[in-house]
Amino acid sequence: MTSPKTFHVKSYGCQMNVYDGERMAELLGEQGMTATDSADADLVVLNTCHIREKATEKVYSEIGRLRKEGRKPMIAVAGCVAQAEGEEIARRAKVDVVVGPQAYHHLPELVVQAAGGALALDTDMPAASKFAALPKRRKVAPSAFLTIQEGCDKFCTYCVVPYTRGAEVSRPFDAILDEAKALVDAGAREITLLGQNVNAWDDDKGSGLHGLIVALDRIPGLARIRYTTSHPNDMREGLIRAHAEVEKLMPFLHLPVQAGSNRVLKAMNRSHTRDSYLRILDRVRAARPDIALSGDFIVGFPGESDAEFEETLSLVEAVGYAQCFSFKYSPRPGTPAAERTDAFVPAEVADERLQRLQAAINRDQAAFNAATVGKYCTILIERPGKRLGQMAGKSPWLQSVHLETNAAVGALIEVEIVQAGPNSLGGVARAPLAA
Ligand code: SAH
Ligand code: SF4
Ligand code: F3S
Repeated sequence: MTSPKTFHVKSYGCQMNVYDGERMAELLGEQGMTATDSADADLVVLNTCHIREKATEKVYSEIGRLRKEGRKPMIAVAGCVAQAEGEEIARRAKVDVVVGPQAYHHLPELVVQAAGGALALDTDMPAASKFAALPKRRKVAPSAFLTIQEGCDKFCTYCVVPYTRGAEVSRPFDAILDEAKALVDAGAREITLLGQNVNAWDDDKGSGLHGLIVALDRIPGLARIRYTTSHPNDMREGLIRAHAEVEKLMPFLHLPVQAGSNRVLKAMNRSHTRDSYLRILDRVRAARPDIALSGDFIVGFPGESDAEFEETLSLVEAVGYAQCFSFKYSPRPGTPAAERTDAFVPAEVADERLQRLQAAINRDQAAFNAATVGKYCTILIERPGKRLGQMAGKSPWLQSVHLETNAAVGALIEVEIVQAGPNSLGGVARAPLAA
């Protein structure tokens, strides 16, 4: 096989994968390769997700599709499926490179190795972090991701992340600040700090995520700070206070709860209860009354009864989320919950529960959006809108807003929200703010 000159990175799964995908593209670009469409690329990197069975199966259908084209691109499987399945992938499908989420800084060497004809595999989780070996950030969108923490020590009984991403590790404070400044220099106005448990971030000074946010707040040119995903157990007082005190910290919190029943939460090994979760949200709302709340839910966890599912619905009702993600439980190889074949929830029951839950979530989301009408807020313009003359951006509460304006991508403009739909808002530009 000849060495690839063009590449395409396709990321599945969470925002951390999106970040990793951008970093892999930067790495390959540094080697002199050019980014292109997947249909023309000499090298296709599939940056995969293992969280649910459907996500994993997608990889194999994508490989099948790429192989059928007649063209023979080099295929690299990266991400969480690479970590979880390793060499097994090469037994199921014809691939050239398998590289885990902690080893992708070796991607250029692996590509060279694969060009020699053999499978190139690296799923090590080295003690020295990959970040130092990655190139400097050059060109980014106005809203950029920055991974500050990786891995998970929580071991929820349904979840593969502790196995695919390894133990919780925080990147050093100075490295994060340097990357944030580079992102701002490269065009970012908003930075979303990422981690599988981002609010577990800490350093040897013990300042916690709030200390980092306070430091980022001082970077000139950075207008907005967000963070995701948080775990209820790491929701420290300082971070809650930051929502009241740090102006650049946006009024949005994604705090997954998974279920409303204490028995189910215990079986999931979530180590918080319904009430402890609700108390955290009370404190967050006391600090920042307009905060938009978001959550994750799993329905049909083994043994979940009808009455227990009703407790999830009543929790949703009690909170009034601005948006949520909800999933049908998917048994994952190697996780404790997948061993429990005794208390299987039938697919039809789980489907029905998911539909009812999503109806409740959609209702609350529509209500949250409707309540924004009449408000004035700042919008960060991220892209052209659907119609000519229209642009689209995000409200402080992470809603998509469409409006007529000649403001450029990256501008922050003052907007009055005049219309609300289930998934987005319509706005009218008012006096511009300093860019
Ligand atoms: N670290 C984050 C996110 C983990 S994955 C957290 O703890 O919240 C994102 C979401 O996928 C989880 O919050 C959960 O709702 C869902 N998820 C994880 N494993 C799953 C499984 N086996 N089946 C269905 N959904 C799952
Ligand atoms: Fe998975 Fe639980 Fe860790 Fe989240 S906290 S990544 S759901 S094990
Ligand atoms: Fe998926 Fe891995 Fe993210 S399993 S959700 S890509 S951490």
